[in-house]
Amino acid sequence: MLISQETGLPCGLRLPNRLVKAAMAESMAPAPTHEPNDKMLVAYKEWAEGGWGMLLTGNVQVSETYLGGPLDVLSSKAASSDVQRIWKEWASTCQENGTPAVVQLNHPGRQSPLGAGQRGFFTKNLAPSAVKLNFGNSILAGVASSLLFGTPKAMTEEDISLVIDQFVAGAKQSFQAGFKGVELHGAHGYLLAQFLSPKTNLRTDDFGGSPAKRAEIVLRIIHQVRQATSKGFCIGIKLNSVDASSSDSMADTMEQIGLIVEAGIDFLEISGGTYEDPKMAQQKEPEIVTSTKEIKQTTLQRESFFLSFAQTIRANFPKVVLIVSGGFRTRLGMEAALQSGGCDLIGIARPATVLPKLPKEIILNEDIKDEDARVSLKPVRLPKLYGYLNWLLPVKSMGAGYTSVYYAGQIQRMGDGLKPLDTRL
Ligand SMILES: Cc1cc2nc3c(=O)[nH]c(=O)nc-3n(C[C@H](O)[C@H](O)[C@H](O)COP(=O)(O)O)c2cc1C
Repeated sequence: MLISQETGLPCGLRLPNRLVKAAMAESMAPAPTHEPNDKMLVAYKEWAEGGWGMLLTGNVQVSETYLGGPLDVLSSKAASSDVQRIWKEWASTCQENGTPAVVQLNHPGRQSPLGAGQRGFFTKNLAPSAVKLNFGNSILAGVASSLLFGTPKAMTEEDISLVIDQFVAGAKQSFQAGFKGVELHGAHGYLLAQFLSPKTNLRTDDFGGSPAKRAEIVLRIIHQVRQATSKGFCIGIKLNSVDASSSDSMADTMEQIGLIVEAGIDFLEISGGTYEDPKMAQQKEPEIVTSTKEIKQTTLQRESFFLSFAQTIRANFPKVVLIVSGGFRTRLGMEAALQSGGCDLIGIARPATVLPKLPKEIILNEDIKDEDARVSLKPVRLPKLYGYLNWLLPVKSMGAGYTSVYYAGQIQRMGDGLKPLDTRL
């Protein structure tokens, strides 16, 4: 089976198998320092013992002013020796059994909620252009968006240079700590995704106006991270898929991916969704299949939310290493996706919080029959109070936000040395 086979990235990094623990914000690093702490190490030790091919950390924010959530980890240019020590411990804990670990770096841009980051009440979020998040047409949805996120400030070129420096500083800190690489978060509607998209980037300078210019900030970050680290340091990026409901055109996105691939990335992870339309948090359960041969494309699409877009990338860029994340729950579905050529690696998030040792115990465990090697999760339902709120404020992000908080709670249980709640069906 491909799923258990070792593979390599262009930077030379070897992965013992094809299963990647996808990035999940741990929500365990409180203000003011936002540094990784002992509880996080306890949680990551569980994953380190799980037999994964690669671990991606939760998103680490690069700007202390703008976090994605109030408990996010923060990287820093001027980390004290104590902070450097805990980062080193974090890297070595993740990698103590030979699984390489990669830090995901992020700037939320217009998606930094009120209270996440050291800024005054009137300091605006940053974005390529002053385009506000749109949760829907109702008055209440408009008020929620204004109060929580506000209308962002269109970034000056100075702001852009600072953000590039912050990503590079985050990569340097990860490199010096002993992580094997970084993944730039260019998906889920965060700052880099805002630059790439014509819906949120209305600029007409060097950073907007054409697909190539909208990709410019990403290209500069990749080049500067490479210069600041080494040839052997892995640089990946997570991007959103383009589909019929997306405002981005396929041709423009392929042009941007071409430039990103040319800039020298080691992998491209495909996901989807934003705060406005959180597709990444779908809760579909896969059909049960008993052999990879019988899996039809429709079934495969049902198991993996974003595979068909990855297959389009593969057709255009045959050599790029592709991770697809979102929806994978069965060994046979994962194997079929790999065999379809649509991806090289399988990203798994929510199941990794319920079963931190999922690869070792189930997916790669030869004692478990193919048809039993699966992890179907009970859908997380909004509690009644949220249900009423959701009736008042019918935004899709409410359910997705609650799901995310629920699974972050599972990671926190791991950090407390407790077993995650077993929510398998
Ligand atoms: C608690 C939680 C936190 C997440 N945090 C991040 C994150 O920091 N960065 C990211 O790229 N995706 C994040 N995601 C999305 C996952 O990486 C993944 O794309 C999504 O959950 C779909 O995969 P799954 O169906 O295997 O869960 C998060 C998901 C959850 C449940």
